[in-house]
Amino acid sequence: MAHAPTSARGGVITGWGIAVPDKVVTNDDLATRMDTNDAWIVERTGIRERHIGGTTSGLAIEAGRAALERAGRRPDEIDAVVLATTTPDQIVPGTSASVQNGLGIAGGAFDVNAACSGFVYGLTVAHGLLATGAERVLLVGAETLSKITDWDDRSIAVLVGDGAGAVVIEAVDGPGQLLSWQLGADGSLRHLLECDHGGYLSMAGKEVFRKAVRVVVESSEAALAEVGLSAADVDVFVPHQANLRIISAACERLGIPEERAVVVIDRYGNTSSASIPLALVDALDAGRISPGDHVLLSGFGGGMTWASAVLRWGG
Ligand code: UT7
Repeated sequence: MAHAPTSARGGVITGWGIAVPDKVVTNDDLATRMDTNDAWIVERTGIRERHIGGTTSGLAIEAGRAALERAGRRPDEIDAVVLATTTPDQIVPGTSASVQNGLGIAGGAFDVNAACSGFVYGLTVAHGLLATGAERVLLVGAETLSKITDWDDRSIAVLVGDGAGAVVIEAVDGPGQLLSWQLGADGSLRHLLECDHGGYLSMAGKEVFRKAVRVVVESSEAALAEVGLSAADVDVFVPHQANLRIISAACERLGIPEERAVVVIDRYGNTSSASIPLALVDALDAGRISPGDHVLLSGFGGGMTWASAVLRWGG
């Protein structure tokens, strides 16, 4: 089921930024410590390198600061920090509290954990805050997946990366950028992708792959249909960056030309909640998104969860 906002107040993204650790790990670097190789990783995933290191709060603060600067906003003008992460620094408190403190933000702070769908979940939550009176929200997707990765397990280690992306969303009178959204979850599939306290990520790769393509297509189509749009209306597609083959398959089934999809997985690997904002910011900085463009965001991940949102840029 998809939804279109009914509030008289919408939101507009006014600033954006990213942060990635300095350390770059190439496929060849990984091949020196496990039984893998650059050709397999590139062909099966599209990943060439990833950034590894830092803390989730540290990366989130750096990305958040860049987004605030770009928006021309001071931290004391922000009403809430929404941090999408599946790798918090601690179980308690929420890592968003460290982001609030690190940036000196005046308002509230909370974490959203919807795995790799987290940023789009957070986007809808942020719009809910704006609709109910907040003026400005800092939304961040930040992860240090390297901390929950077994670096001797090639089935996971070649996939993950660390990083963060952030946006400032400001309230406007009228509809704003968010045209529609669709959120979904199926907890009966939690065993497909999971990590216990103190443990490592494990994934049933093939099953996740198949389900991912299906839910991205269904969720995207539902969000588009909610506002009378189709794939042909999508100017820029910002999918979760888990595997280039998933992005290609989703584009093909949706009927979105692949050149309209933003791909950053080659440089960052799979950064879970950070992957959609890393891709969105990449497209914005490259001048790929113009006022009036329809931008489709779509994520999927552990839970399983999935989430799509349609934005009309500008405002
Ligand atoms: O963000 C959250 C959601 N996550 C995802 O969406 C990930 C979804 N799944 C995938 O992206 C893919 O399933 C993987 C990239 C994880 C794996 O690709 P695959 O095409 O499903 O490969 P596979 O697991 O079927 O493995 C094929 C072969 C196997 O060897 P045999 O049995 O054919 O001899 C594996 O043992 O590749 C072997 N293999 C590797 N070889 C070199 C598996 N991992 C590696 C590796 N390097 N890292």
